[in-house]
Amino acid sequence: MSERTLCIIKPDAVKKNVQGSIIQKILDSKFKIIGMKMMKLTESMGRRFYEVHKERPFYGELVSFMISGPVVVIALEKDNAVTDYRSLIGATDPAEAAAGTIRKLFANSKSENAVHGSDSVENGKTEVAFFFAESELNT
Ligand code: CMP
Repeated sequence: MSERTLCIIKPDAVKKNVQGSIIQKILDSKFKIIGMKMMKLTESMGRRFYEVHKERPFYGELVSFMISGPVVVIALEKDNAVTDYRSLIGATDPAEAAAGTIRKLFANSKSENAVHGSDSVENGKTEVAFFFAESELNT
């Protein structure tokens, strides 16, 4: 079934200028890009987006990192998008990510891990809606 998932190319990857390579890998894996924008998250957006992690010890560090530079936010659609995109990006920690995955190729560490991916079908919908009005999406 067609699902939505949200990719964020994080500040570490944008700084390294690997946005194009990451987008190409996503397209090669047959995802449809239905929305894309480059932006700098405000602190308030970062805090709200990662609210589910607010009790975690790394929450402050995570928000500071995500607002430290521009990101590219991409709404994706595909059958089984959530699972397929998580396989494409690999484990959170690049040291544990499979060969050929986006994080293995481009991430620096567990915190500077190149890309975000939605962790459930429900969150895929919510996270796309966090960044895009329905009228901005090209379905
Ligand atoms: P992401 O998929 O964007 O969602 C939550 C993020 O928290 C995750 O990627 C990591 O970048 C970050 N994260 C998870 N665990 C840790 C950790 N132990 N230390 C720092 N950041 C973490």
